Amino acid sequence: MIIAIDGPAASGKSSTARGVAAAAGFVFMDSGLIYRAVALGFLKTGLESTEDDAEISLQRFQIDITCVDSHMHVHIDGVDVTAELHTPQITEMASQVAALKNVRRRLFGLQRGFGDRYGVNPGIVVVGRDMGTVVFPHADLKFFITASLEVRAQRRLIEFHQVGETPSFESVLRAIAERDRQDSERKVAPLKKALDAVMIETDKLTLAEQIDLILGHVLEQSALQ
Ligand code: DC
Repeated sequence: MIIAIDGPAASGKSSTARGVAAAAGFVFMDSGLIYRAVALGFLKTGLESTEDDAEISLQRFQIDITCVDSHMHVHIDGVDVTAELHTPQITEMASQVAALKNVRRRLFGLQRGFGDRYGVNPGIVVVGRDMGTVVFPHADLKFFITASLEVRAQRRLIEFHQVGETPSFESVLRAIAERDRQDSERKVAPLKKALDAVMIETDKLTLAEQIDLILGHVLEQSALQ
């Protein structure tokens, strides 16, 4: 079974997807990590976020994904970089490279191959911006997770506080609004809800409630198969 979960930045989709995968015994694939690894590759090899440089990037570094303890890990030239991908610089660059069609084309087969392989056995939860619309239009279940800008900024602020950083609420809100704009206004694979995706508005839901809601759909779907 393939479960596709999409949604905007800081909507809680990754935590929800990880929880669903753990409860169902499925593999978890966070496609954002792959875009982040490409961004790191660009930064390390001095490339800029242009279509020409995206073409060149193919010769500059190799991206691979593997499955470690039911989680997708991402490698640059054979080195596992999964734990290094959440710096502000990479976040900014990832949003830029994700808008390049030469980058998206490069990553399509990688994601599709991984998802289809683990989707058969034991099942997989894939999360990102275009999982249900572009990469896995054939997914068994699709969800679009969202929350208001204010709630997402508040959640991101708490994450910053947990790692000892103290940006202002306004600056966090502005950064998320800007990423929303970049992710949804780009020409290739913009963030949007698949027509057949179930919309989940999480402003008033806890993480446990979001996970349970999706697991309910999974159980229903399993009973049908
Ligand atoms: O989910 P994230 O913040 O880790 O994603 C990093 C960037 O990659 C973000 O700007 C959106 C982009 N992305 C994308 O365009 N398509 C995906 N399937 C996943 C992420």
